[in-house]
Amino acid sequence: MEKYAALVTIILVILYGTYNATRTRHTPSPKPQDTPYTQHINNHPTAPAAEELSQLDTPEYTYHYIRNVIKHGSNSLGFPGGVMEGGYIGEADAPGVACYVLHLSGKTCPAGTEKKEAHLFFSSNCAGCHGNDGRGLHGKYPDLTRPTLQGIAKQMEARH
Ligand code: HEC
Repeated sequence: MEKYAALVTIILVILYGTYNATRTRHTPSPKPQDTPYTQHINNHPTAPAAEELSQLDTPEYTYHYIRNVIKHGSNSLGFPGGVMEGGYIGEADAPGVACYVLHLSGKTCPAGTEKKEAHLFFSSNCAGCHGNDGRGLHGKYPDLTRPTLQGIAKQMEARH
């Protein structure tokens, strides 16, 4: 009889343990739709679109964009002059020329990119299409003196 009592106790302990384990495992976690939207937004703040857009229209981003165009070209703006190939000037001269282009619209260059001879590189490699004044030969090529370059304006529109 005592043997039985011990056995029953063991079985009861095991059953109780199993029951507890399944109970804790199945504690329902809150479903996503149970969280009110305002609370959810506070828990996962997203960058407001306006802030993201304003970052595109900065000298830093414009510099980065010009470097990219110099390296890879540009083909999405639909100018009568056609597309622009990349590589008119090498990587070593690109920072100075990009800074020169930034100056055309009155922007400040990133530190260390200003080069005295950059205007010479611009007139011999870029002015043939964009003009010595950067204005793009009467609409045939993009006007580089615009406050916001057209490729950047396009990116801003796409994100609206
Ligand atoms: C053979 C003509 C040609 C030459 C040379 C040329 N470009 Fe361009 N460039 C274009 C054309 C055409 C576009 C617009 C192409 C498109 O996207 O439709 C353009 C676009 C650009 C843009 C983008 C303008 C915007 O509003 O977004 C920049 C910046 C630029 N060029 C800088 C330069 C620089 C700097 C040089 C010299 C290293 C240069 N280009 C040489 C024809 C030229």
